[in-house]
Amino acid sequence: PGVTEQHNGELHRDYTEDRAAKSQDVVYTTANGAPYPHPYEAQRAGSNGPLLLQDFHLIDLLSHFDRERVPERVVHAKGSGAHGFYRTTDSLEDLTSADIFKAGKECPITVRFSTVGGEQGSHDVARDPRGFSVKFRTEEGNWDMVANNTPVFFLRDPAKFPHFIHTQKRDPSTHLTHADDSTMFWDYLSENPESVHQVLILMGDRGIPDGYRHMHGYSGHTFKLINKNQEWVYAQIHFKSQQGTKFITQEDSHSYGPDYAQKDLYFAIEEGNFPKWDVCVQTVTPKQAEEMWEKQKINVFDLTHVWPQGQFPLRKVGEFTLNENAKNYFAEVEQVAFSPSHLVPGIEPSADPVLQSRLFSYADTHRHRIGVNYQQLPVNAPRVPYKMGNFQRDGAMAFYNQGSRPNYLSSIEPISFSKRTVDLDKTHAHFVGEAVTFLSEIRPEDFNAPRALWEKVWDEPARERFISNISGHMENCKHEEAIKRQIGIFREVSEDLASRLEKATGKKGYPGIAGLSFNGTHNGMAKDKANR
Ligand code: HEM
Repeated sequence: PGVTEQHNGELHRDYTEDRAAKSQDVVYTTANGAPYPHPYEAQRAGSNGPLLLQDFHLIDLLSHFDRERVPERVVHAKGSGAHGFYRTTDSLEDLTSADIFKAGKECPITVRFSTVGGEQGSHDVARDPRGFSVKFRTEEGNWDMVANNTPVFFLRDPAKFPHFIHTQKRDPSTHLTHADDSTMFWDYLSENPESVHQVLILMGDRGIPDGYRHMHGYSGHTFKLINKNQEWVYAQIHFKSQQGTKFITQEDSHSYGPDYAQKDLYFAIEEGNFPKWDVCVQTVTPKQAEEMWEKQKINVFDLTHVWPQGQFPLRKVGEFTLNENAKNYFAEVEQVAFSPSHLVPGIEPSADPVLQSRLFSYADTHRHRIGVNYQQLPVNAPRVPYKMGNFQRDGAMAFYNQGSRPNYLSSIEPISFSKRTVDLDKTHAHFVGEAVTFLSEIRPEDFNAPRALWEKVWDEPARERFISNISGHMENCKHEEAIKRQIGIFREVSEDLASRLEKATGKKGYPGIAGLSFNGTHNGMAKDKANR
């Protein structure tokens, strides 16, 4: 990782060796490479005079220090990363033409795990979903899977994302987070009932993973896999931890340090205890997708729902191992830039509106966070067997500016094009029913999966812990109406859940959501048609 072979031949220093250099082999220099003998000395006029403008060493030292920070990620700011390799164990060639899924294919990877809401210095044992991003450096370019540790998400309409995330951030006036004041958190959730499946997972026993090695990863979104005959299926990607899953209870979480997950991952790798994951796919044909919508009201473009694994079993494709820590956290983890839009031929996005928005949002934030040429940073640079070229030029830090070649599509000096392997007419002409239009609407089916969790999956002590986690968190919510509404939402999941929560909080909730109207969201279960 961190190698930039494709830059060879440019007037450019290859820093590959410097990355591994030992301190005793390094000479102290100014940034322009001149040896400098006095790292701790400012130049001063006389013995008591002011400092000299000619002292480039000091001026450069201070001004570089002044600019050391790049903005932290607007979400998922706290994270840990490592490098490793991926290998395809079971060919997926029947489903996709992606080169990386041919049997035996391998590639180097970089993985970054994260919490979501907290700032860069926040606690990595927080009750929060975890990010799980993998950059596969394939021979056809980088493929990023920007996943979470939960199969579902809080929302299915991307317009809600910035609002929802703001409720996880500091209040503009009190500057407190929802750990101290949970009002805005519950205010948002009680207005957006499609979040309730994720809320059950978050506030239940699976809400605090025990480090990053013991958790699975889920694309959540639906992608499309296209084979060489232009046949395609919908697919979700799952990473299954070979370490198994482990979680921390609310009670125990207080005794963990703020960098527990970072330490756990780093030292496991240092000790040669390399964590591994299976890569699996779950697929659904276009016809099955229509049937699933007609019979079960599960829309493949709706990431608040899962595809039942009994109906659509997982198929293992490969596995990856993390066997190398970053030598330099900033260069290799802070600067790594994942995007769901970094795809390779044979893997296409689906029409899921949240995914479609993410295709835009990540590269957009990278251009702001680490610069327009972020793909040229060593950790992000593709490692392809051909000479890469396009007509993107200049911009800040363009250290691979493509030499003397014409900067337009020249017929005098043409470059070559690969053959199109995916026929977009065939893959993008299908949309399932009218479901896309009504993604925001709340439907009875939204409560099926959370109800199964409460009634069938959890045992009695798990239910008790959930009630205690929620009622503890709600103690800091000052908006009584939000609590009444949230209990109404929980009542659609289960009467038992709602009445226990009423007892634990001492608050009375609504009898359900039929009488409620939601801020910005259609209530398909409203009695009153005007509320729909
Ligand atoms: C990080 C936007 C939904 C997983 C981010 C970042 C942005 C963002 C702007 C910061 C990226 C950076 O600075 O490097 C959005 C938007 C969403 C959305 C607009 C919905 C409309 C999701 C979903 C998932 C997800 C549904 C998972 C299924 C992640 C992960 C990261 C991340 C894992 C951290 C990437 C890393 O480790 O660098 N998101 N996100 N996000 N997001 Fe999302």
